[in-house]
Amino acid sequence: MLQDSFGRVATDLRVSLTDRCNLRCTYCMPPEGLEWLPKPELLTAAEIARLVAIGVERLGITEVRYTGGEPLLRRELTEIVTRTAALRPRPQISLTTNGIGLARLAGPLKDAGLDRVNVSLDTLDAGVFVRLAHRDRLPDVLAGLEGAAAAGLLPVKINAVLMRGVNEHEAVPLLSWCLERDYELRFIEQMPLDAQHGWSRADMVTADEILGMLSREFDLTPADPGERGSAPAELFLIDGGPARVGVIGSVTRPFCGACDRVRLTADGQVRNCLFATEESDLRGAMRAGATDDELAERWRVAVRRKRAGHGIDDPSFLQPARPMSAIGG
Ligand code: 5AD
Ligand code: SF4
Repeated sequence: MLQDSFGRVATDLRVSLTDRCNLRCTYCMPPEGLEWLPKPELLTAAEIARLVAIGVERLGITEVRYTGGEPLLRRELTEIVTRTAALRPRPQISLTTNGIGLARLAGPLKDAGLDRVNVSLDTLDAGVFVRLAHRDRLPDVLAGLEGAAAAGLLPVKINAVLMRGVNEHEAVPLLSWCLERDYELRFIEQMPLDAQHGWSRADMVTADEILGMLSREFDLTPADPGERGSAPAELFLIDGGPARVGVIGSVTRPFCGACDRVRLTADGQVRNCLFATEESDLRGAMRAGATDDELAERWRVAVRRKRAGHGIDDPSFLQPARPMSAIGG
C-alpha cells in the first residue's frame, strides 16, 4: 500500500505522458510556451507500463489517469492504455485532455480500454477561447467532445476554470450547454500552478462566487455528502436532479485530508502532491537497474513523506517550481 504518515492511502495514480501542449491556457503556461523536457528525459512507453504495473500490482493503485501537458500528443497513448487495461486487478482508466484530436482518437482509445475522459472547456465563445488559450481551436474541442460521447466514453466530464474578466460570465451558459448534452460539468478554482506565476488570490473566482452565480439560475441542492469520498468536487443536484454540477474549491475548500492521489511526472518523478516541493526519482533508479521491489519501496517512501495539505493560504506557501503541464492534473 501507499500510505502516508497521516493514514491516507493513495489509490489514484495520475501519470503525465508529456509536458507539451497544443494550447497555451493562461492559467497554465505563457503564450510562447515553455522549454519542453528533452526527449531522453521522458519515460518511454515501456517504462511507463512498467511503473504503472508496479503501482497496480504491488502498491494498491486502482485508478490510473493519464494527463499532460496534452496526453493525446503522445503517439503511444493507445498502446499505453492497452497495456494498462491488461493489468490485474484491472484499474479504472481515464484521461484528462483538452479534447483536440479526440474526435479521431476516442474510438480507438475506447477499444483499447479507456473508461472515461475529462475534457477541459472554459468557454463557448471562440473569441474568448483565443484570448484564454492563445490558439483558435474551439471547434476541435467541441468535435472532440462529440467524439467522446459517440464512442461511449461516458459520462463525459468537463473541467472549467473561470478567470475574472475573461470568462467568469460564462458559468451559467456553460452549465446550460452541458445540461443539454448530458455532459457533467465541474468548475475548478484556479490554483497557483501557472509557469509565469501570474496567479493572485484576488483574481481567483471562488467556489462561493461560482455557486452564487449558478444559484441565480438553477436550484442547487447538495448531492448526498457521503458520496463525495475522496473526490475533490462538491456535487450539487440541479433543479432536483438527476443532473449534477461539481465545484472544486481547491483553494478555499481544500480536500487534502481525504486525498488519495499520487502523481508521476512525464520524466519519471513521483510527486506526492500537486504542490510538493520535493520529488522522488524513479526514472533514474529504473535506468540504473533497480528491481521492481526496489522501485516499489522508493515509491512507498515518497508517499510516506506527503505533507498534510497544500497550505496555499499559509503566508509561507511556495508555488512549486514545476508548472501544471509538467506535473499532470
Ligand atoms: N488551476 C486550476 N485548474 C487548472 N488546470 C490547469 N491549470 C490549472 C490551474 N492553474 C486544469 C485544466 C485541466 C486540468 C488538467 O487542470 O483546466 O482541466
Ligand atoms: Fe494545455 Fe492543459 Fe495547460 Fe491548457 S491547461 S495549456 S490544455 S496543458
